Amino acid sequence: MAKDGEKGEWREFIWNPRTREFLGRTASSWGLILLFYVVFYIFLAGLFALTMYVMLQTLDEHKPTWQDRLSTPGMVIRPKADETFEIVYNTQNTESWDMYAQALDKFLGPYNDSVQAQKNDECTPDQYFLQADSGEVKNNPKRSCQFNRTFLQDCSGIRDRYYGYQEGKPCIIIKLNRVIGMLPGKDGQAPYVTCGAKKEDSDKIGDLQYFPPNGTFNLMYYPYYGKKAQVNYSQPLVAVKFLNITANEDVNVECKINANNIPIGSDRDKFAGRVPFKLRINTNK
Ligand SMILES: *[C@@H]1O[C@H](CO)[C@@H](O)[C@H](O)[C@H]1NC(C)=O
Ligand SMILES: *[C@@H]1O[C@H](CO)[C@@H](O)[C@H](O)[C@H]1NC(C)=O
Ligand SMILES: *[C@@H]1O[C@H](CO)[C@@H](O)[C@H](O)[C@H]1NC(C)=O
Ligand SMILES: *[C@@H]1O[C@H](CO)[C@@H](O)[C@H](O)[C@H]1NC(C)=O
Ligand SMILES: *[C@@H]1O[C@H](CO)[C@@H](O)[C@H](O)[C@H]1NC(C)=O
Repeated sequence: MAKDGEKGEWREFIWNPRTREFLGRTASSWGLILLFYVVFYIFLAGLFALTMYVMLQTLDEHKPTWQDRLSTPGMVIRPKADETFEIVYNTQNTESWDMYAQALDKFLGPYNDSVQAQKNDECTPDQYFLQADSGEVKNNPKRSCQFNRTFLQDCSGIRDRYYGYQEGKPCIIIKLNRVIGMLPGKDGQAPYVTCGAKKEDSDKIGDLQYFPPNGTFNLMYYPYYGKKAQVNYSQPLVAVKFLNITANEDVNVECKINANNIPIGSDRDKFAGRVPFKLRINTNK
């Protein structure tokens, strides 16, 4: 029968006892194909490993090979405002501001004086803390300077553990993003932070107080040599306390870095060298 014939052909294709072929090939033919693929994949793996090895040889583990020429570092505030960059709370509603105080506690933990004394050095202020490598001999690990939490005084959360939020005089902490090798400030003039209100809110912002005094980032915290070389680096901070901000109204604030060698970012990048945010402190009138 035709059906049987087809079946027989099919069976013969899988295993043909006459020619001793399996799926149309002899054992030696299959063996050669297998051998070819084994050699081929070993060759590919070897090529990949060699390429990676050569690439890795060219990298310096202490410094990025490529760093885009970011002339103006970004700025961020703590407590971290949400995507809308708003800090809004009601002084009478503890729950509405307690999270800000807790966020600051957590953020400032590594700045505790005891922690800093253990990890970092007391450096000479007002000058760069240069730790150059001598040629191929790397001067690693590099030391870092103490930034004690108490430098933030009224905004350190020690004297006033609610950072002024409860009394409607909140503290905002500002830091500059790390940029390897950046030397901000020329001629010994340290960069400093200033905050101001958008024009329409200028009569609502009230007086500000900065910690450390004048809102400076001391020169001794620069340059930064990178995470691997300078493991204990603590970014310097500036705290701003809003002493008399108008309650129950939106106040649009912008803080920016002032350094005689850092250009203020363009409108294209609104976080280059500055950070805008909104403050609104509600009180039950
Ligand atoms: C920092 O000090 C505060 C009290 O001054 C303490 O509650 C906190 O646990 C300390 N944090 C660290 C990381 O040592
Ligand atoms: C930081 O605090 C520690 C512990 O109180 C102290 O020994 C050290 O001198 C302080 N550092 C600076 C730079 O004031
Ligand atoms: C980093 O801090 C640890 C203590 O936490 C200290 O033992 C170590 O010496 C520090 N390293 C450098 C390079 O400052
Ligand atoms: C703050 O700035 C003023 C004016 O520029 C200066 O006289 C004063 O010494 C500065 N204070 C500190 C602690 O740097
Ligand atoms: C606080 O600001 C208000 C106006 O917003 C002003 O009348 C008042 O005198 C200020 N108080 C202090 C202590 O500066």
